[in-house]
Amino acid sequence: MKKRETFSNRSAAIMAMAGSAIGLGNIWRFPYMVGENGGAAYIILYLCATVFLSLPIFLAESILGRRTQLGTYGAMQTLAPGTGWRNMGFLTLSSALIILSFYSVVGGWSCDYFLQSLALGFSHDRIEDIPLMFSRLASHPWQPIVCHTVFLLLTALIVAFGVKKGIERFSTITLPLLFILILIIIAYSLSLPGSFKGVTYLIKPDFSKMGPSTVVAAMGQSFFSLSLGVGTILTYSSHIDKKEHLLGSGLGTALADILFAILAGFAIMPAVFSAGIEPGSGPGLIFETLPYIFAQIGEHTPVLSAIIAILFFLAIVVAALTSSISLLETGVSYLVEEKGIRRWTAVLILFALTWVVGCLCSLSFGPLQDVHLFGCTIFDFCDKLTANFMMTLGGFLFTFFVGWKMSKADVRDELTSGGEDRLAVRCFGVLYFLIRYIAPLVIITIFITNLVL
Ligand code: PHE
Repeated sequence: MKKRETFSNRSAAIMAMAGSAIGLGNIWRFPYMVGENGGAAYIILYLCATVFLSLPIFLAESILGRRTQLGTYGAMQTLAPGTGWRNMGFLTLSSALIILSFYSVVGGWSCDYFLQSLALGFSHDRIEDIPLMFSRLASHPWQPIVCHTVFLLLTALIVAFGVKKGIERFSTITLPLLFILILIIIAYSLSLPGSFKGVTYLIKPDFSKMGPSTVVAAMGQSFFSLSLGVGTILTYSSHIDKKEHLLGSGLGTALADILFAILAGFAIMPAVFSAGIEPGSGPGLIFETLPYIFAQIGEHTPVLSAIIAILFFLAIVVAALTSSISLLETGVSYLVEEKGIRRWTAVLILFALTWVVGCLCSLSFGPLQDVHLFGCTIFDFCDKLTANFMMTLGGFLFTFFVGWKMSKADVRDELTSGGEDRLAVRCFGVLYFLIRYIAPLVIITIFITNLVL
């Protein structure tokens, strides 16, 4: 059998996984959630959610992937042959494809905005036009579909080149770039008059805003942000060399993800407050509020604000791409493993599938806006179905399998790299307890809360 491709070293693996984790979730949701839910208090909560919930799930996925050196289907088939567990492969394939479909619609909008920023579309003399630009783009019958196609093509191209030449190379080049871009934007944002109000919004701890729903929201955000429950981390971990330390990779990825989310907050909110605008989240924040601010600032410093706009949308496109390639790779590894299809063919098949579902998601802002599934538009339905149900179900099954179906000795052997990883050996008791008891219980709680809400 052909030897499985592995990442060159631990930092390459961390960069690829951090690339998957750092995405739209960090840029358009985290900063807003922090401000809305009590500033620093929310950040502390988010850290706890990451340590007690997300890290154990991350490790469970890593253990399964690295142990078997296979994707979800192959891993389950190897560890529990002939049982229903192999259907996990299908579950994760479906979640990854549904997420990729709507994610690449947003990726497409970002590409469009990047091009607009290059064409100086957010200059001050166009300021009246800017608030309408987004709804015009999103509801247009074909323009967002062209952008979605471009974004998906880029994703497919990177993945087609394979784990080392495609994914690893792209992530290791772009991840440092992302951090540099965000630092430049922070410096600019903080230099604006009145920006300190944005800083206060992010860091002032306000425990009165915290309640049970905040806790569930923090856990859900951390879950999505670390790309859990979809088999992405499992698939990437299957390419980690046997001698690398899984705990180190998990901690490194979680740290990079949290750091980037916080940095994104300091890049965006000071500018928003300096312009005297109420912060929102989601598409409204990046595609309406921020372009408006770029145009407003452009009255006095047109060149600088044009450059910052270009860098900002470039950062969003890159962050979205490093996540979308991980989603596509999850599906590709399934087709290659279960159906024995060649890599390029697998990429083509999944490209076609996600393109179609993505088009439906895109059209749900325009011609198909009246089509509803369970009271949601097609786009919202895909988003809610995956974030609230499929990902949590996946996360539960992964931790349940590692905590209750695998032998403790095997879990220890894999997590500690055969006893070589001193830190993992020392923490094994606690980590195993989190994987076996805490994480599954917490996920069930989130699942039920989502169902009730
Ligand atoms: N973590 C990515 C983000 O924050 C989204 C993602 C979810 C990517 C699941 C892969 C798998 O945007």
